[in-house]
Amino acid sequence: QHSEHTRTEKLQNLCEFLKEKVSYYNWVGFYFKNGDKRELILGPYAGAETDHTVIPFGKGICGQVAESNQNFVVPDVSAQDNYIACSITVKSEIVVPLFVNNENIGQIDIDSHELDPFTAQDERFLEFVNQEVAQLF
Ligand code: SME
Repeated sequence: QHSEHTRTEKLQNLCEFLKEKVSYYNWVGFYFKNGDKRELILGPYAGAETDHTVIPFGKGICGQVAESNQNFVVPDVSAQDNYIACSITVKSEIVVPLFVNNENIGQIDIDSHELDPFTAQDERFLEFVNQEVAQLF
């Protein structure tokens, strides 16, 4: 029902809004599965530019969530071995899958410059955000 252009614009605004409103959300972006290629492609995001525009399934926190269909909270990225560093200023990360018709089609990914800021409240909040985002598909 939504054109791809409208959806991209709305997601872009959402990323900027979340980054602006939550002090410890320092990078907010969406990754989407690329057909049946077993890779994620970076969608709209707010924050520092990243080289990681394509992430194979299984690689990094994002690639693991593509396969697990589960939230992944990383309180301290330096303690993770399967992690893709986007910036040395990032200390923690949360990734919440995006389900459309019960199918994991991608995820919201948030990086923080703070150590261990993400709580169960962030998980519930981002699950809610993703339920709303799912309506755009
Ligand atoms: N850190 C992520 C890669 C994406 S950047 O954070 C934008 C990961 O380990 O999958």
